[in-house]
Amino acid sequence: MRRVRVGDIELAVEERGAGEPLLLVHGFPLTHAMWREQLAGLADVARLVAPDLRGFGQSDVTPGAVTMARFADDLAALLDALGVEQPVTYCGLSMGGYIGWEFWRRHRDRVARMILCDTRAAADSDEAKANRRNVAERVLAEGPRFLLQVPEDILRAARGESEEETADTPSRRRRALSQLMRKLFSPYTIEHRPEVIAFVRELILQNRPEGIAAASLGMAERDDATPLLPSIDVPALVVVGEDDGLSAVEEMRQIADAMPDAELVVIEKAGHMAPLENPGPVNEAIERFLRGRSRAS
Ligand code: MLT
Repeated sequence: MRRVRVGDIELAVEERGAGEPLLLVHGFPLTHAMWREQLAGLADVARLVAPDLRGFGQSDVTPGAVTMARFADDLAALLDALGVEQPVTYCGLSMGGYIGWEFWRRHRDRVARMILCDTRAAADSDEAKANRRNVAERVLAEGPRFLLQVPEDILRAARGESEEETADTPSRRRRALSQLMRKLFSPYTIEHRPEVIAFVRELILQNRPEGIAAASLGMAERDDATPLLPSIDVPALVVVGEDDGLSAVEEMRQIADAMPDAELVVIEKAGHMAPLENPGPVNEAIERFLRGRSRAS
C-alpha cells in the first residue's frame, strides 16, 4: 500500500499484478480491502489498482459533502499519477458503481470496459436522501459504531470459538444485526461465514466519521444515471448477489438490459457484498470477461 499525491490530497492505493489495468472501486462505508479476494485471485490476470477513496481507509479526509463527480475526478487524477495511460476496466461495487456512472460521464475515453457489482442507477428518493443526512449526523456524533451492531455470537464464531457457547439460530442472528449489516449479507453468509461479517465490521471501524459523513451527503446529491445507460457502449459485466437486499437482482437486470453490450451474472449464496461473500464465481466471471471482451471484440 502506498500513498500518492492527487491534487489537494493523498490517496492510499494497493497495486498488484501486471497487464491491462483493472480499477477496483470500493463501496460505502468500506475501504479497498473489501476487494481482498480479487486482489488475491486476479493478480495474474490484470494490473490491479485498488485505492481507498477520499475520506476512507488510509487516504486523506476532506470535510463537507464529497460528490460522486469529485470521487470520479480523484480516480482519473490517481491514474495520471500512477502513469496509467491506457483505458482501464472500471470495476465498482455499490457506491463504487455510482462513482462509475460519473467516471463514464466525465472520463469515458479512459474506460475500456465496465464491471458493475451490486449497484443502482436510480437516484435516491426524498426519504433515502433524508436518511443519508441522518446517517451523516449520527456518524459525526457517535462514530461508525451505530452502523455496526453485530451480535457477540457472530463475532465469537468468527474467532473460531466453540459452537456450544455461540449457539444461536440463524434467524436470531439476522434479527440482531443492524439494519445496514442485515442488508449487506446473504442468509448463507450470516449462517456459515461469520468471519466475512467480522471483517467488514473491522473495515468500517477503520474509517473516520468525517469521511463516512461526507460520502453519505455526496450520495444523497447524486443524479439519476438511468438516462446515461444506453450511452455506455463498452463491454460491461453486471454482477449481483442473488440475495442482495440493497440492489435487487431485477433492478440490476434492468441496468444490464439498458446498456448496449452488457451481460448479467447472478452470484449464488451472496448478498450485497458478493465479491467477498462468494469470490470464486465472481472472480471466474471477471476473469472470463477480461479475457474474452474488449472494445474491439
Ligand atoms: C454501498 O455498499 O456502497 C452502499 O450500500 C451504497 C448505498 O448506501 O447506497
